Amino acid sequence: MSEVKPLRIALPNKGRMAPAVHKLFGDAGMHLDDIDAESALLSSINERYEAMFVRATDIPAFVADGVADVGVTGWDLVCESGFALTDLLDLGLGRARLVVAARASAGFGSLADIPAELRVATSFPRLAQAFLTDRGFSVEVVGLSGATEIAPHLGLADVIVDVVATGSTLRRNGLVELETILTSSARLVAPKTDSALEPLVLLLDSVVQARACRYVMANLPAPALDRVAAVLPGVESPTVMPLLGTDRVFAVHAVVDESSLDEVMTGLRALGGTGIVVTPMERLVR
Ligand code: PRP
Repeated sequence: MSEVKPLRIALPNKGRMAPAVHKLFGDAGMHLDDIDAESALLSSINERYEAMFVRATDIPAFVADGVADVGVTGWDLVCESGFALTDLLDLGLGRARLVVAARASAGFGSLADIPAELRVATSFPRLAQAFLTDRGFSVEVVGLSGATEIAPHLGLADVIVDVVATGSTLRRNGLVELETILTSSARLVAPKTDSALEPLVLLLDSVVQARACRYVMANLPAPALDRVAAVLPGVESPTVMPLLGTDRVFAVHAVVDESSLDEVMTGLRALGGTGIVVTPMERLVR
């Protein structure tokens, strides 16, 4: 019997995204907890998958070259790499934006205020050059691999192009955003869609979906049942179950988006709901 080669997944070995990505894989049953990702290059996850731990920046190249079958990295890094990779799944973490920013004291309110010929410090030279050239600027790129935010203060550049998540790095360094170039998050990427990758996509997506939702249960008086679907739509429609020994009260259950929980609970209360329970889920396949 021929052995099936495990699919190789390139994962970030360190950096801001790494712990959240490793946790997502653990929640999907692919535990990486015992692996020292910073020193292990390759590690078996199970009989179907093996992890390759490398820098997030290098992942697009490894996936494009076929060194790994699939990878997880920031969409900003994929775009910067220039490799035409397919975005298989948004993992819903590592959300950030790539922005143009300048010193607050320079008084630039928008891109319209910055000089037509300018120097930009960035670790995203390709995206910065393309975006600003497209906007009609004549650009000299100062390539830096980190600490871009100090460049305008040192007179190295007029503006920077950098990643913003919470915005605290820009604020701390007296910089203001002028424009967003792109929004990013951690993505599962591959050279192309491939049926061999479908089980992995389904597995990870079930965790991503579950994280964004809650399972809600409540008891409702029978006359309120014809209005419950408006409050608690569920994946299809809410489950309604009788309670033992009464036909006056029914249990209703449904999956709801976490973002609508406040509304749902208020709505259930308004329908006379009692015993409202909200619980997280491990997996959800819609
Ligand atoms: C990025 C970016 C900023 C910071 C922004 O660096 O370069 O320095 O995050 O985050 P904030 O808006 O929440 O302050 P990252 O931590 O990814 O590491 P890097 O310096 O290696 O790019």
